[in-house]
Amino acid sequence: MPWGGHIVGPMSDSATYLRALLEWQVELGATEAICDAPLNRFEAPAAPVSLTRPASTAPSPSGGAAAIVMQPHDGPDPVAQARTAAAQADDLAELRAAMAAFDGCELKKGARNLVFADGIPGAPVMIIGDSPGRNEDAAGKPFIGQAGQLLDRMFAAIGMGREMAGSPIYITNILPWQPPGNRDPEPEEIAMMMPFVERHIELVAPKVLVAMGNVSCLALLGKKGITRLRGTWDTALGLPVLPMFHPAYLLRNPAAKRDAWHDLLQLQAKLRG
Ligand code: URA
Repeated sequence: MPWGGHIVGPMSDSATYLRALLEWQVELGATEAICDAPLNRFEAPAAPVSLTRPASTAPSPSGGAAAIVMQPHDGPDPVAQARTAAAQADDLAELRAAMAAFDGCELKKGARNLVFADGIPGAPVMIIGDSPGRNEDAAGKPFIGQAGQLLDRMFAAIGMGREMAGSPIYITNILPWQPPGNRDPEPEEIAMMMPFVERHIELVAPKVLVAMGNVSCLALLGKKGITRLRGTWDTALGLPVLPMFHPAYLLRNPAAKRDAWHDLLQLQAKLRG
């Protein structure tokens, strides 16, 4: 049945057709059914904040995308606001609260939940993805969809897991809110959330970071091109960083799982060494 065509006859109300219509909406980025009582998530906030404010000039300690200089604009600087809020967080609970209270990023308005982290704080490996998808947005937990399940299987293969006693991992994202329609994060969004990511890393204090995919590499290392970067140790915030293919990429390109396995073995060797 062609999409968007005028439907006449019994097919128009068949379960198959209705299901196809629903799937089409999901493809377009719809994340929930509309209820009887309307909910205006885009109601004007007291002080709307644009994504194009001037960044503070101090370079980001990670040297990554937080060093992006945004266009001059009147009003508060969300990067400076984020930096102040993040610096005041003395532990992970305070950091989570500071992120939940941060109104500088428009993505918050369209998200159902703040997706903070999963796993054990203090784990030797901290995995950093890009941004939550639909499942993560609904549950408030990172990497629980298909890509997350693959991530779990990948780490289980080297004896590690979110809650695994003795070899836990800790998982978070560069952005805590789902971008609409799962689009890539904008540089300004990355820049304004980086102070929180950097504080997050300090508080978790892992031995190594895994940068999952291009967005994470750009944010942490200021570098693009995961195919070239993957498997080669780098440094951010004084910690070793291993860029790896994002599991969503591996789902689309199963042949690259071979490279991912090589990278997992490198990670294992680093932790043992
Ligand atoms: N992809 C990510 O980068 N993070 C998630 O939490 C889910 C999918």
